Amino acid sequence: MSAYQKAAQQILSLAGAHPPEVGVILGSGLAGVAESFTDAVVLPYSEIDGFPPAGVEGHTGQLVMGKQGSCSVACLQGRSHAYEGHDLADLAVPIRALKAAGCKSLLITCAAGSLQKEMPPGSLMMLTDHINWPGLSPLIGPNDDEIGPRFTDLSNAYDDDLQKLIRQSASAASIALHEGVYLWCLGPNFETPAEIRAFATLGANAVGMSTVPEVLIARHCGLKVAAIAVITNLAAGMQSGLSHEQTLAAGSKAAPILTTLIGEYLQRLPGKT
Ligand code: HPA
Repeated sequence: MSAYQKAAQQILSLAGAHPPEVGVILGSGLAGVAESFTDAVVLPYSEIDGFPPAGVEGHTGQLVMGKQGSCSVACLQGRSHAYEGHDLADLAVPIRALKAAGCKSLLITCAAGSLQKEMPPGSLMMLTDHINWPGLSPLIGPNDDEIGPRFTDLSNAYDDDLQKLIRQSASAASIALHEGVYLWCLGPNFETPAEIRAFATLGANAVGMSTVPEVLIARHCGLKVAAIAVITNLAAGMQSGLSHEQTLAAGSKAAPILTTLIGEYLQRLPGKT
């Protein structure tokens, strides 16, 4: 049995009568999402087969399962980034385990820099598409046909129906929601102003250092994907200097609004995927 199948069994036995319907990847500073769950159970990654070791700065490395309204949710709290030198496929086992445990969709949250002045720090941007700037994929290597096809279709990478549901959830909670294309950069350096101007001409609305590998893993195994970015800064050249501290501070300021939006979304989700 593969690691993801063993992990799925662990998840299912932990979930008891409430097998998860949706997975959520929580970016740093968004732990509050899981705090509003009822019947929550927590399992450190170190106790689950094949899950990556914790130790990512600002990330706990634990699986939190619980209910939001009638929706059974499994949250991955802790992700690894390519810039840490970790394998791009680090989250393959957790994401595939969620699928094998019965999840139909995955909601991914992240921080991003904005390429548009009209989308300032503190804004929320729903991803409608992405640009894989490094051209890397966690799916490179032999393909396991039991998990998914060799060639993954990305035409509807960010599921249209889930996007509708996020729009409805935002409007029900009177939350302003931007939409746009996310461009993935490897990091850990921020971009140069010239790169940002080039990315704008390519059609990017925001840049960030995560999410795309996770989307590729999820789409490969047949999970529907939705993603929301917290805009933490204007991109390089559009404001006077960038720092990780600012990213964290702006991220935690916007976290309560994103937490509300995710709560609304999860309550609307059952039966929709
Ligand atoms: N660039 C890349 N990643 C980011 C940024 C940025 O400006 N802000 C938050 N994550």
